[in-house]
Amino acid sequence: MAAQGLVVVASLLIFCLAGSCYGKVHFSTLKRTLDVTASPKQGQVLEAGLDKITVTWALNKTLPAGTDSAYKTIKLKLCYAPISQKDRAWRKTEDELNRDKTCQHKIVAKPYDASNKTVQRYEWLVERDVPKATYFVRAYAFDSNDAEVAYGQTTDGKKSTNLFEINAVSGRHASLDICSICFSVFSVVSLFFFFYIEKRKGKASSSK
Ligand SMILES: *[C@@H]1O[C@H](CO)[C@@H](O)[C@H](O)[C@H]1NC(C)=O
Ligand SMILES: *[C@@H]1O[C@H](CO)[C@@H](O)[C@H](O)[C@H]1NC(C)=O
Repeated sequence: MAAQGLVVVASLLIFCLAGSCYGKVHFSTLKRTLDVTASPKQGQVLEAGLDKITVTWALNKTLPAGTDSAYKTIKLKLCYAPISQKDRAWRKTEDELNRDKTCQHKIVAKPYDASNKTVQRYEWLVERDVPKATYFVRAYAFDSNDAEVAYGQTTDGKKSTNLFEINAVSGRHASLDICSICFSVFSVVSLFFFFYIEKRKGKASSSK
């Protein structure tokens, strides 16, 4: 019995270490240590597929030395502002980060160099598949287990300042639609054409 109990405890521990313990990081437990800026001004409207965003990040200088000793990677993400999450469960904010849907668009992941305190910069062309919405930028610091350990963002805690808009690519759907209509018409026409040829062939051979 004791041995069985031990096995159960051991397997629970392994299961825990294997994922569930590391996986459940809550946003509310993260410290805001990164100073993040993004080039768009409050209320600016950017065009997906055309406009660029320059993001900068650096460790806040007021923090004690060693704060960033566990940081291995910085991931920059584009995040939905509350106004664009309203009535949209698929963009809902959850405190548990692997269920959170606030920041769905990855901008970039960069290795973190703790010895280099200069402001880091990344220029990103807004990808064409980014939907029309109001956004801010957030940076997560990940440790060597790929778990979030800290963050920074371009907006305040209430996510109400420094928000910008992105307009979806226009004309893409229209041109795609025209294209598919052309192809449909072409295939119907060619179907009739070959049907007609076949019929003629059939007639020609039967009249011989
Ligand atoms: C750094 O952190 C302090 C304290 O939290 C804050 O007041 C300050 O605004 C931060 N610096 C920047 C550049 O965001
Ligand atoms: C520190 O970061 C800056 C900006 O990315 C870079 O230009 C510079 O070469 C880095 N310095 C060192 C010593 O790695």
